Amino acid sequence: MKVLPPDVVSLLSDVAELRLGLLPDEKFSNEVVDAEAIFLESREIDENILKIAKKLRIIALDGVGYDHVDVEACTRHGVYVTNTPGVLSDAVADLTVAFMLCLSRDLVEADRYSRVKWASEGELQKLGFDLEGKVCGIIGLGRIGFEVAKRVHAFGMRILYYDMFRNKQAESQFGATFAELDRLLKESDYVTLHVFLGEKTRGMIGRRELSLMKNTAYIVNTSRGAVIDQSALVEFLRTNRIAGAGLDVFEKEPIPSDDPILKLDNVILAPHIGSATVETRHAMALTAANDILAVLKGEVPSNPVLEQKDKVFLKK
Ligand code: DGY
Repeated sequence: MKVLPPDVVSLLSDVAELRLGLLPDEKFSNEVVDAEAIFLESREIDENILKIAKKLRIIALDGVGYDHVDVEACTRHGVYVTNTPGVLSDAVADLTVAFMLCLSRDLVEADRYSRVKWASEGELQKLGFDLEGKVCGIIGLGRIGFEVAKRVHAFGMRILYYDMFRNKQAESQFGATFAELDRLLKESDYVTLHVFLGEKTRGMIGRRELSLMKNTAYIVNTSRGAVIDQSALVEFLRTNRIAGAGLDVFEKEPIPSDDPILKLDNVILAPHIGSATVETRHAMALTAANDILAVLKGEVPSNPVLEQKDKVFLKK
């Protein structure tokens, strides 16, 4: 569980009794019976919890993705769901580009080589690749995708993007070109995903989509694991039908110890750390806490999720 910054804890404790901790399901149900607000990380919230938590007025997510919360049920129960858009875009974009750099220069292997082989085997023979001039395909050009575009543009990459909406600002500022998904997959040297997990995006990168990619291309995912069919990805990586992957998110988290993805050496893994910087985690916690404070005061929160934009729920 993330540790809440002390200033956020004291902000909330001024107005509410705080119960902090990661609780097993049965204890969680007991704790939420009289809760007015839940500060939530990754636990699932469904109708059952909402039926128990009759006083609940807000679920403030400490993050941007909300695929684990039944928003439709929350709306029916008059419970606000808020998230933390914007404040984590830089951190996630930084990690995305870090994956791209590590993949292009095989930095993980370079580290191992320096420790165990350099002295005995001499200079590392394998060469990496420049990012300059390569094509970066960004799937989902929202806030995080935009920050990725800004960074890869600075590296001299050409940008293709696929989204439901055209992003004129990214087109004029970074020369980003809109492309249908298939074209993006065929032409990109790096494909990176920045979409919410939902009906339309679950499994959007499957066998067919992976087979469109060049066998020299890399894929990076810092959004949600389930947007890629992970067993298809493992197969494509194992047989070198794509060059490699940088993954911060997985279908199952933590990764089970017998997961075949752990055996691959052309993939760089991270334990869902996209937003894990001091500055970003602080800003996320503060954003969530401020929305809790607003709702407890009877105000409308600043960051309702898309489905609840302009909704006003009466005080319970
Ligand atoms: C998010 O904000 O959704 C991040 O993945 C943290 O969980």
